[in-house]
Amino acid sequence: MKIIAPSILSADFGNLNQDIDMINQSEAQWFHVDVMDGVFVPNISFGFPVMKSLQKRAEKTLDVHLMIVQPERYIEEFAKAGAHILTVHIEASTHLHRSLQQIKAAGMKAGVALNPHTPISSLMDVLEDVDLVCLMSVNPGFGGQKFIPNTLQKIKALKTEIESRGLNTLIEIDGGVTLDNAQSLFNAGADVLVAGNTVFSAENPKATISQLLALSK
Ligand code: DX5
Ligand code: ZN
Repeated sequence: MKIIAPSILSADFGNLNQDIDMINQSEAQWFHVDVMDGVFVPNISFGFPVMKSLQKRAEKTLDVHLMIVQPERYIEEFAKAGAHILTVHIEASTHLHRSLQQIKAAGMKAGVALNPHTPISSLMDVLEDVDLVCLMSVNPGFGGQKFIPNTLQKIKALKTEIESRGLNTLIEIDGGVTLDNAQSLFNAGADVLVAGNTVFSAENPKATISQLLALSK
């Protein structure tokens, strides 16, 4: 099954409930939730107050992407705040294997995100422990950036590795996903496409979500 995860980073925070309801009513299966600390990335987004609003109102999987240093400090708190999937950056995790076990022990699925310059070979010794690999297709920090084409070959190589090991690990692509590149990303082996700007700057966000999903068929 292919999945669309609209990124609420691009939502209208003055009318957040309205955008949450739009996603609830759409064909999207997940909410993608970008938490930034202004240290790991050059931007600060939001934290637990927004998680609380989502927890109350969102009716779909909360896919939380932590762009923060020392993410292991907040695993329990995000579990309590309703995260279903918790993704930490490999570049921010000194003891990644331990963090992955802690995420699962807290009842969540465990994700690892890789910046564009980080090779997938850095994952080889933990791949069995990972439920989702988030390949960043932009440098994290902001919505609305341009897709980095090198991501395509990373998807293919990672997909081959996952299949050769007989794993169910999901590949998520985050950044610069558009109606023009979604099909090639799905074809290369992506399971989940995050979409911020493409969805929220569209005249009809709900229809755009359907169009993105249709590109997987
Ligand atoms: C970037 C975030 C992305 C972002 C994607 O640091 O991790 O999830 O919201 O936004 P678009 O789809 O606009 O590139
Ligand atoms: Zn993200």
